[in-house]
Amino acid sequence: MRSIAVLTSGGDSPGMNCAIRAVVRSALSEGLKVFGIQRGFQGLIKDEMKEMDVSSVGNIIHTGGTILQTSRCKEFHHLDGRKTAYDNLKKNNIDGLVVLGGNGSFKGAKIFSDEFDIPVIGIPATIDNDISSTEYTIGFDTAVQTAIDAVDKIRDTASSHERTFIVEVMGRKSPAIAIHVGVCCGAENIVFPTKDIDSNRIAADIKKGIKRGKTSSIIIVGEGEKSGLSYEVQDDLEKNHQINAHVCILGHIQRGGRPTHLDRFISSKMGNQAVKELISGEKARAIIYQNGMVSSTSLENCFETKIDYETPFLELVRALSM
Ligand code: F6P
Repeated sequence: MRSIAVLTSGGDSPGMNCAIRAVVRSALSEGLKVFGIQRGFQGLIKDEMKEMDVSSVGNIIHTGGTILQTSRCKEFHHLDGRKTAYDNLKKNNIDGLVVLGGNGSFKGAKIFSDEFDIPVIGIPATIDNDISSTEYTIGFDTAVQTAIDAVDKIRDTASSHERTFIVEVMGRKSPAIAIHVGVCCGAENIVFPTKDIDSNRIAADIKKGIKRGKTSSIIIVGEGEKSGLSYEVQDDLEKNHQINAHVCILGHIQRGGRPTHLDRFISSKMGNQAVKELISGEKARAIIYQNGMVSSTSLENCFETKIDYETPFLELVRALSM
């Protein structure tokens, strides 16, 4: 292993830059050359890459987004695209690849590694925390903190005007962001796209709270495949329970911003571990976080549906909001 490359793929997540920095500097300190590929797999297909030195990753540890930029690349779904990507790696004498991204990026990485016998290491990076075999994905903590800050502000207005707010958070099919925000903001209820909306129960909780003197109610909604579920909940509460609720969809505000301590710390360790895996000759591995430790597993172990430890906390949210 003399030369490696790193790319970021799929949705950006806070902490990606810390991981890029860790990959580049760990590789340089082992005497490897490192290339940064622009715009994920799309940039690999288009041969958009440049050699990285120590200062190319200076002053980025505290920044959100990804200095390498990212994309969701359709061409990489096809063998032709992957063959061009492989040819570009060979042309630039690159022996191993580090891919930062979520589930889709990991699947592409695994196929690519198998087809062309190229060592690829995945680093889990998505705000959704929905990758199996790892307890943590880079960006989750920052996204949750951003949403908590927003909901705390909304709570001020909700209390001042004695209103009910429905706040929609990101997470695609994963309930993780919704549950963590719900618990940490004292939400009255949480709605998931994967479960039927039980508006009778939501309305009963809101009315019970008002009866005991509560001045505000916050319902957290997980977005699902597309955003907008909040408006269904709003209509239902209005039509069937005469509850007037305001909707606030937080959206991409959750994807940006300065990474928290946890995201900086874990991404630094993961980036360093990815380089170690490549040097020790590993192929098609994913870096994972379990019981406070960073280690690795085979990429395909990340493709199963993640065990849902989160949804049971819905009852905790209801119990504590009383
Ligand atoms: O996977 C991360 C995520 O932010 C999801 O929570 C969200 O559903 C999706 O990406 C949004 O994707 P896009 O970048 O296409 O807006």
